[in-house]
Amino acid sequence: MVNVAILGFGTVGSGVAEVLEKNGAHIGQKVSTPVCLKYILDVRDFPDSPFADKVIHDFRIIEEDPTVDIVVETIGGATVALDFTRRALNAGKSVVSSNKELVAEHGYELIQLAAQKGVSYLFEASVGGGIPILRPLSQCLAANELTEVCGILNGTTNYILTRMIRGGLSFEAALKEAQEKGYAEQDPTADIEGHDACRKICILAAIAFGRHVYPRQVPTEGITGVTLADVAYAASCGRKIKLLGRAIREPDGRICAYVAPHLVDEESPLAGVEDVFNGIVVKGDAIGDVMFYGRGAGKLPTASAVVADVMDAARHIQSRKRMEWGPGGDDVTVSPDHLVFHWYVRAEGEPETVRSSLPHAELLTAPGAAEGEVAFLTPEMTRAQAEAAAKGLKVRSLFRVLE
Ligand code: HSE
Repeated sequence: MVNVAILGFGTVGSGVAEVLEKNGAHIGQKVSTPVCLKYILDVRDFPDSPFADKVIHDFRIIEEDPTVDIVVETIGGATVALDFTRRALNAGKSVVSSNKELVAEHGYELIQLAAQKGVSYLFEASVGGGIPILRPLSQCLAANELTEVCGILNGTTNYILTRMIRGGLSFEAALKEAQEKGYAEQDPTADIEGHDACRKICILAAIAFGRHVYPRQVPTEGITGVTLADVAYAASCGRKIKLLGRAIREPDGRICAYVAPHLVDEESPLAGVEDVFNGIVVKGDAIGDVMFYGRGAGKLPTASAVVADVMDAARHIQSRKRMEWGPGGDDVTVSPDHLVFHWYVRAEGEPETVRSSLPHAELLTAPGAAEGEVAFLTPEMTRAQAEAAAKGLKVRSLFRVLE
């Protein structure tokens, strides 16, 4: 028998308990031993929950119980979750996590610790919710030299943008809906400012390119600056606005990663990724482009990935399951400032100003456009060049166009 303890009985933790309970017989058969939920650690009590009798408040009970084999960490954040993860690994227990913040900040250290202790540290659910992406990246695509990972990595912001594009909802109304559906983080700032996508691209970059990338090394821009006017101008040139996380392996081996809103061609596969869905495109020298698609957030999709890791850890109690990369460092990454794009610019100003400073710009028109406002696409250039070209204008939005 394999015993499991869940840390944190929020959206994901309660989903994990539900899946373990509902699919217990099938899970036990697949791993050739019963997988039993023994404890749920939370600061709260849940008297009305069918799992009420498993709820405890002291982590030491789990740490000191030699019959607990696998600890599922769904607390989130990188403080208490870090302490409990270190202690669980030190106590010789495998840890399964959905915590992207923890993996992005401390993944290298925790993987090393798990290796020293001969246990597993698995975190498939930390990226893409229910989409299998980390294992395919590290195993199925292992024969490739990977050059780029690019995707829609945050369900909440994709839901918000979809509702703005298709429903004409304001940003605030769409965010409220996403929160009600349980997609958003406890503090949705992490979603809308791009931090959540940033953590996920760090994890993807580490697995794809083999070195730890820290969130502080990834320039990050969220969607709080995206307006219905931007949505309309993007539609006028056959594009949709999407928040993308990108990690590119440069010819010198360094990693260039960033998160920002982009205008994406309506015909491209990423433009078809809507609502809470995530889509991740991986480029490899043998495979070409491959895309992963599915529900990127939500209770049961995320629990599906967590429980699959629990099953993997259960099968490998005696021989740990590997997911690893090398250390980070200042020499590992490079800023995206050298990359060239067509830029979408919306600004206070007149078309004549644009025509004289950027004769090759493509001016855009949209129904209901504001007086005294101009929008255009620049020729290909770096960000610094785009900013210099728009110098005579009061810029309101400046987004990359994905080719
Ligand atoms: N808040 C996250 C999202 C949850 O919206 O994608 C899944 O990581």
